[in-house]
Amino acid sequence: MRFSDQFEQRFSEMLKHYPTQRSVLVPTLLYAQDEIGYLSDEVISEIAGRLELTELDVRNVISYYSMLTTKPRGKFNVQVCTNIACMLCGGEEIFQHCRQRLGVGHKGTTHDGLFSLEEVECIGACSWAPAAQVNYDFHENLTTEKMDRVLDEYRRSPTG
Ligand code: FES
Repeated sequence: MRFSDQFEQRFSEMLKHYPTQRSVLVPTLLYAQDEIGYLSDEVISEIAGRLELTELDVRNVISYYSMLTTKPRGKFNVQVCTNIACMLCGGEEIFQHCRQRLGVGHKGTTHDGLFSLEEVECIGACSWAPAAQVNYDFHENLTTEKMDRVLDEYRRSPTG
């Protein structure tokens, strides 16, 4: 399979800097996922081959990290934290609000393929609870009104 030139550049650069080939697995998976949208069987097989790992090794790593997925998901992956600090500050309410607003449940994707929703454990933003992460962006001190504005902005964004 063929990745972009940018992917290939990053991949060869990483191989020079990490102590073992296996060490580049997670960043390689993230770059591949950013490019393809998810980690398909073909991607897994390609990366396993390049890093001299078995496909099972690669799948085991994918299953450990919640940010890696083997299933297609929306362009914007909305991860709402409902772990303790966020739960105490209304994280559950934010998650339920997103469910209603997007019309999908945990790990669901909207019909237009724009949003996926996930309820997640701590994302390391406890001091600004309740918090959510959309792709690589953090959104903190959320209220239902603020969450609506966040979703609207993504919906209107040029990449949306
Ligand atoms: S508990 Fe939600 S960010 Fe830590």
